[in-house]
Formats: sequence, structure tokens, C-alpha cells
Amino acid sequence: MMKLFESFEIKGMKLKNRIVMPPMCTTQAHAHDGIATVFHQAHYAARAIGGTGLIIVEATGISPEGRIMDADLGLWNDAQRDALVSVVEAVHHEGGKIAIQINHAGRKCAVTDGVSSIYGPGTVAFSSEYRKPQALTEKQIEGVLADFQAAARRADEAGFDAIELHAAHGYLINQFISPTVNTRTDAYGEPSLFLSRVIDAVRLVWPADKALWVRVSADSPQDYGMGHIISVLEKVKDKINAVNVSSGGVIPVPPAVFPGYQVPLARAVKDALGLPVMVVGILDAPDLAEYVLQNGDADLVCIGRALLRNPNWPLEAALGHHKALFESIPDYLRRGFHL
Ligand SMILES: Cc1cc2nc3c(=O)[nH]c(=O)nc-3n(C[C@H](O)[C@H](O)[C@H](O)COP(=O)(O)O)c2cc1C
Repeated sequence: MMKLFESFEIKGMKLKNRIVMPPMCTTQAHAHDGIATVFHQAHYAARAIGGTGLIIVEATGISPEGRIMDADLGLWNDAQRDALVSVVEAVHHEGGKIAIQINHAGRKCAVTDGVSSIYGPGTVAFSSEYRKPQALTEKQIEGVLADFQAAARRADEAGFDAIELHAAHGYLINQFISPTVNTRTDAYGEPSLFLSRVIDAVRLVWPADKALWVRVSADSPQDYGMGHIISVLEKVKDKINAVNVSSGGVIPVPPAVFPGYQVPLARAVKDALGLPVMVVGILDAPDLAEYVLQNGDADLVCIGRALLRNPNWPLEAALGHHKALFESIPDYLRRGFHL
């Protein structure tokens, strides 16, 4: 049997297979209120029906200015929490587990509707297309930590199985990690401190028996490399249950991408930390994803754009390999595969 379809467990969260839908912003909260709609329920349930073991809901803002774009999801009020309950229930009903990626966009906030100021560790804009951020004061940082905490509490109340903290792609946590972006002279100039304090704030409300992990940009071209991110992760590894390894997005330097391009980064994080690791990046070919798992480079594979194109990617990957899976799915779906 393919390793892709072997179960895996993170902190008591039992996954039926190794296939993860990574967080992908859908920008479908058209009212700019951060509230999930029937679209989000259908979108995530479709991937659960297609066999994805773990779904990570898109970057969800912990505050209005924590969103990346106007139509992103939010989790700074109870109405947003309540709307996510049906998304969670739909995925659970189809046998999937569901996490949510909570995020503060920092200097990469492009929200215009109702957001006049954006924030970062310093005052340098991401690029000429972005607004200039205000440097967060230590008091404002306490407010951001409280927002992360409140979002985590609401995620638990909505029934999520796990939280992913977005510490990748150049958003606020990643801005503090980056030596290029974070030139602060106070205690937060230490690259791991903000991340560590976010984890502590979340841990105070997130149940001890539920999984919590971080998504990192393991490599940031012309900024930092593996040694830096591993030293940051070493400082928090006892407080997290896994790492989702990505790269780039901190400064506007486009990375070179090709199938499996982030696999060596995932391998290095796994070897250094000994925590469960998720890998991502053009793993569209099931044989490549299987190779990565068999080789022990990562424990879970994230299938992003390929799952946008085809919600049934897991079922198609299983064709001819995993008869038992097809015995467990409804007859109508089996017939869609001519079985
Ligand atoms: C439409 C779209 C939205 C994305 N939104 C997010 C996001 O909200 N959070 C995040 O960490 N990564 C985001 N990503 C990156 C994906 O999670 C993933 O890392 C990337 O697409 C590479 O994987 P793939 O080659 O399998 O698509 C997004 C990617 C796409 C295509």
C-alpha cells in the first residue's frame, strides 16, 4: 500500500492518510466582514469528500488589519467563529480533520476597506505597492498577542482540531524572524521572541491535548537560510507539535520553483528538530509525493494548487493502489471512478 494512505497522528489527532490541503486564501468573504459563507463550507467539504486527510483553512486574520486581503476570513469576533462551525462540521462529517491557519499580515496587509494603518516590526514597506507600516510599540505588541489568543480560543470553540500559526511567507511573525525586516533594538529584536510569545499566548487557551504547529519560511533568499530558521525553531520546539515547511515571501525576491523544491528544507527541519514535518511545493505527481514520504523527508505532504484544480486528487492517487479506500466511499462516487 502507498504510504500516502497510511494513517498518521499529531498530538492525538488521528489522520486517515498523509495528504494535507495547505492553507490557501480564497478571498470569498465578499462582504469584507471576515465571515465564512456557504462557499467556504462547500469548498472545504469537497476536499474532504475527495479524501484529503487534513484540511488547513486559509490564512484567517486575528484582527481586521491582520487579514492579507479584504475578502479573507477573520476570527476576531464571535459571528466569524459561529460561521466557521458549519465548515468544521462539514469536514468532520466527511471523515477529515480540520485545522485553521491564524495570521497577522503585518506590513503585507493589503486590506483597504476600513483599515487605514498597517503595522510591522519597523517602518519599511514590503515594496512600492504596499503601504508604509507603523512600527509596533511594545504595548501594541501586547494587543496583538491578545488578538492571537482570542482567535485561538474562538478556533477551539468552533471545533477545530488544530491550529497552524502562520510564521511563513513574510507575514508579521515572519517579519520578526527576518534579520532584514526586524532591525528593532528592544527585546523583540531577538528573532524568536515574538513567535515564542505568540505560542505562549495561544497555549494558555488552546487545549493541551490539541495540536498546535507553525508554518515557516525555512529559506528566505537574500535574507536568511536554514541555519537561522532552525535556531529559531530550536527555541520553541518544546511548545509545538509539528512544523509545516515552506519558503520565501519575506522580501520581494522570487524563488526558483520546480517539483519538490522545498523537500530538502523539510528534510533539514525534520533532522534537526525530530518533530513531525509537512512539506509543500508542486508535489502534484502522486509518485513524487509517495517518494518523499517513503524517503522519510517529511511525514505529511501538502497538495495545494493540485487540490484546487481537482478536489478528488487523493481518490485519483489511490486508484489501482488502495482498494479498501474505494470500498469505504459512497456508491455514487465509486461509480465516478468506473468501479
Ligand atoms: C490561491 C493561493 C492562496 C494561498 N494562500 C495561502 C495562505 O493563506 N496561507 C499560506 O500559508 N499559504 C498560502 N498559499 C501557499 C500554499 O499553501 C502552498 O504553499 C503553495 O501553493 C505551494 O504548494 P503547491 O505547489 O502544492 O500549490 C496559497 C497559494 C495559493 C495558490
